[in-house]
Amino acid sequence: MSFPVQRPRRLRSNEIIRRMVRETALSVDDFLYPVFVTHGEGVARPVEAMPGIYNYSIDRLLEELTEVAGLKIPGVLLFGIPAVKDDLGSEAYARDGIVHEAVRAIKKAFPGLLVVTDICLCEYTSHGHCGVVENGSVLNDPTLELLVKTALSHAAAGADMVAPSDMMDGRVGKIRAALDAQGYENVLIMAYSAKYASAFYGPFREAAGSAPQFGDRKTYQMDPANAGEALREARLDIEEGADIVMVKPALAYLDVIRRVKDETGFPVAAYNVSGEYSMVKAAAQKGWIDERKIVMELLTGIKRAGADIILTYHAKDAAKWLREGE
Ligand code: PBG
Repeated sequence: MSFPVQRPRRLRSNEIIRRMVRETALSVDDFLYPVFVTHGEGVARPVEAMPGIYNYSIDRLLEELTEVAGLKIPGVLLFGIPAVKDDLGSEAYARDGIVHEAVRAIKKAFPGLLVVTDICLCEYTSHGHCGVVENGSVLNDPTLELLVKTALSHAAAGADMVAPSDMMDGRVGKIRAALDAQGYENVLIMAYSAKYASAFYGPFREAAGSAPQFGDRKTYQMDPANAGEALREARLDIEEGADIVMVKPALAYLDVIRRVKDETGFPVAAYNVSGEYSMVKAAAQKGWIDERKIVMELLTGIKRAGADIILTYHAKDAAKWLREGE
């Protein structure tokens, strides 16, 4: 009896053959680790909804990065928590701002670590919006100027890559032109191209103290129902000079990752955001799921969907598990 001729189970019959035909291999090279830096000394303030994640002062951040570099994670994405906030988010582009000090310290201590900085105003503005606010609305073009100043100041501090996450129109082009004009033509731009107005950012806003004080971000971040619009955003950012395009969040947007990858051919980053991390952590703490298996499955899914780079708070754990051999 030879029925059926094709028996797909033959390719699953043992670990050797499964390894040989496996289509997606997660690697530590895929990861960027988001970190939060704040003023002070000896500070390691836990973020309640994100077990394992802290607001670090620079000295403690450097200790943390010893571990990150030891695990061979290629780089970090830096978020700053300023001492004071104001209407125009001035610490975002102050020469001695928290991110600027941190970049200088990190590049000095770990020259081989890729330092990516988030370019946005919401952590720095008193109203918590990602741009200049007038009469309750977020103005596009006046915001561009401040984003350009922020990106230039990060490049001057030594950032290797800037990642505009504000979702203002035209910011990538303005930032690219300004960087080039100042001799920073080798500083990369990773654009948050398809950044959705998502409820999954909740825990991050606790970590960064960046929740909008009125209204929401729906006039600049994308509607979760749209995918065609994500392609237009990605194409625009590429035309304006983006080197890498990002889809954010990741798990509810795997189809968007796939389409952006297939239709642009550019390196695609996916941001496995705070709320996605918190859900896994909470269920794992209750003993309801196997954290290690779940995390590796989720990260593999994000890569299988087409992500070349995964920004994830699980990076350290995943790097350890990969090293141990899953
Ligand atoms: C800043 C920014 C946010 C995140 C990354 N950059 C928050 C937001 O847009 O409200 C979210 C990251 C996360 O949830 O892990 N604009």
